[in-house]
Amino acid sequence: MKKQALSLLISVLASVCISAAACAQDNMTAVDNRVFEKPERTRAVFRHESHNERAKIDVCNECHHVMKDGKKLEHESSEDKRCSDCHGLADSGETPSLRKAFHLNCRGCHEKSGKGPVMCGECHPKEDR
Ligand code: HEC
Ligand code: HEC
Ligand code: HEC
Ligand code: HEC
Repeated sequence: MKKQALSLLISVLASVCISAAACAQDNMTAVDNRVFEKPERTRAVFRHESHNERAKIDVCNECHHVMKDGKKLEHESSEDKRCSDCHGLADSGETPSLRKAFHLNCRGCHEKSGKGPVMCGECHPKEDR
């Protein structure tokens, strides 16, 4: 019992945020869609922290990448930027539009791994939540 209580305390402490800015993603439950002019769908469900834990993704640049000549720079990441800082509403050269970038990233991995939602309504539920 004591051991369990101690490990619970440790895990609670480990998840305490050191600064608000460093853990803004902790409370994220959906991807902001306000950069799209007139969103047609509800915000995509995305519980940042629990998603990445369950999906066992431990490198930030799996999503927050820095690209050069069509390749991902292994040791750089861009979590200080929004995807929309680099991906515009339309394709631009080799850079896919924001909507494509999200779908390729999110649905792409789900399709490839055979895990996670691939149907529209699973990511964009009827009602925003
Ligand atoms: C794996 C999750 C996922 C799936 C499956 C998915 N989307 Fe998305 N979609 C996103 C994300 C993330 C965004 C960008 C942020 C947001 O809208 O919340 C987005 C954005 C969009 C946008 C641009 C924003 C808007 O609301 O106008 C449209 C349109 C869209 N999706 C339609 C669809 C349609 C249609 C399907 C099914 C064919 C689909 N999506 C399936 C995750 C998904
Ligand atoms: C599976 C994809 C994915 C992974 C892996 C990931 N993130 Fe994110 N993160 C996102 C998306 C999507 C957003 C929203 C981006 C946007 O709105 O443009 C985001 C947003 C953020 C934000 C901004 C939060 C806010 O509310 O403004 C921070 C900070 C962040 N991530 C940090 C991290 C860190 C640190 C890691 C690695 C430990 C990480 N992310 C791993 C997808 C991911
Ligand atoms: C610092 C700028 C930058 C940021 C921030 C950025 N990207 Fe990209 N991304 C690029 C560039 C540039 C390319 C095109 C690379 C090429 O093929 O030349 C690209 C390509 C992509 C591609 C297609 C290539 C691939 O990796 O499969 C996807 C998908 C993608 N980005 C998703 C995202 C998502 C999702 C986010 C936010 C979590 C994001 N990007 C943030 C610059 C950025
Ligand atoms: C590198 C792979 C990868 C990427 C990128 C990724 N996912 Fe996932 N996702 C997974 C896996 C694996 C699961 C299943 C986890 C489990 O076993 O519960 C999952 C599950 C989910 C679920 C259902 C479980 C939950 O957390 O609610 C949602 C919703 C989801 N993903 C949304 C997204 C969105 C939105 C994005 C893009 C912003 C994204 N995913 C990007 C791998 C990924």
